Amino acid sequence: MSGKTAKLTLPDGTEHTLPVVIGSEAEPALDIRALRQNTGYVTLDSGYMNTGATTSAITYLDGEKGILRYRGYNIEDLAEKSTFVETSYLLINGKLPTKAELEDFSVKLTRHSMIHEGMRHFFEGFPPGSHPMAGLSAMVTSLSAYYPDCLDRTAPMDLHLTRILSKVRTIAAFSYKKTIGQPIMYPRNALSYCANFLHMMFAVPAEPYEPDPIIVKALNQLLILHADHEQNCSTSTVRMVGSSDANVYAAVAAGILALWGPLHGGANQAVIEMLEIIKDPNGPYQGDYKKFIAEVKDKKSNQRLMGFGHRVYKNYDPRAKILKKMTDEVLNHLGIKDPMLDMAKGLEEVALSDDYFISKKLYPNVDFYSGILYRAIGIPTPMFTVMFALGRIPGWLAHWKEMVDDPTTKIGRPRQIYTGETQRAYVPIESR
Ligand code: CMC
Repeated sequence: MSGKTAKLTLPDGTEHTLPVVIGSEAEPALDIRALRQNTGYVTLDSGYMNTGATTSAITYLDGEKGILRYRGYNIEDLAEKSTFVETSYLLINGKLPTKAELEDFSVKLTRHSMIHEGMRHFFEGFPPGSHPMAGLSAMVTSLSAYYPDCLDRTAPMDLHLTRILSKVRTIAAFSYKKTIGQPIMYPRNALSYCANFLHMMFAVPAEPYEPDPIIVKALNQLLILHADHEQNCSTSTVRMVGSSDANVYAAVAAGILALWGPLHGGANQAVIEMLEIIKDPNGPYQGDYKKFIAEVKDKKSNQRLMGFGHRVYKNYDPRAKILKKMTDEVLNHLGIKDPMLDMAKGLEEVALSDDYFISKKLYPNVDFYSGILYRAIGIPTPMFTVMFALGRIPGWLAHWKEMVDDPTTKIGRPRQIYTGETQRAYVPIESR
């Protein structure tokens, strides 16, 4: 509490005092927690555009200035200097690890990378061509059946968090191997987190595989950029599900499902699909992205420039800035000339000089360039959102932990303003 207050005057002329809360970066908020009890009023805020659902010490984001920090550290510094494992530790535990702590955390992640052999059958059960996000969420839920002590919420949870972070990577890679009909590759304990993922994705038993250190570094950066983004749709879902005391696997699985939507994490897949349609010589645009932009601007078309716009960023998404540079570097390193990259840059240039996008403050977001990078690494389009999920796991876990450790947490249960019929008499079927 800041000690400051705001006054609210209701239609009947009564005045109510609302405490003002100021965050550590000086963001002001009106505390309405006692509003309904004191006045009978609730607030209406569809899409939670103005609602702080919680206080949180994990991530700071200033959408106007394009600032993103995890636990106080700038995303640019973390992407350049940290690893995904170290950043995960930071998000979950609130501080950068010492050497010994990092070593211990890495060993635990390595030790818990295998999944129960019984789960291998699950991969067989999914129809060919099914979306990997369906499999991922189902398998994360299923993990709770293999570790039933997660249902005891008084027991220590740290090992479950480690398991999720480690096994999601294995599940993602196994499901890819299944879709392409190759044998599953088990994790190799000698490899780092990201190198191990690349090994499970791209190695085959017939020949040795050594992950390319530049790709390992790029993957670390990609995952760091996705690792948290405060109260977004999927993280809020994790908190909401977790607030009912559902187990952590259930909460994370719910986050995976929320992320799947094309307005959220599914946008990285949607961007590549959009670029493919624009490029298609037999399609409606035949490479003419200016025609596509004109259609996006026409409200009747219901067309969006995927990978553009953000609820909170009204400036260039700092993650997109890093990704654009990284995409250039990785494509150069691999000697790939991807026409999709040129098209994406062309679209960006046209959009950023167009009044429609300028006036609405629509800039590229994290999903605009990430798909091109994933393609270059060899990750197929349907797996893009799985990659986002892999990156977001530490954020979800950090928020889940923050929520359950907070003694003031209450079950999430918004109110509504009922707009349906008022009471009426039941009409027997013969009389309708
Ligand atoms: N293309 C064209 N117009 C857009 C776009 C876009 N990508 N995004 C927003 N607008 C327009 C929208 O039509 C609206 O115009 P008007 O005020 O005239 O009605 C205005 O900008 C505000 O849009 P909104 O949908 O009310 O904004 P929102 O905050 O509810 O939605 C968003 C944010 C991310 C869902 C939206 O920008 C969008 O659909 N973008 C494309 C999908 C996408 O790239 N999603 C990934 C987001 S980043 C990853 C993540 O964190 O989830």
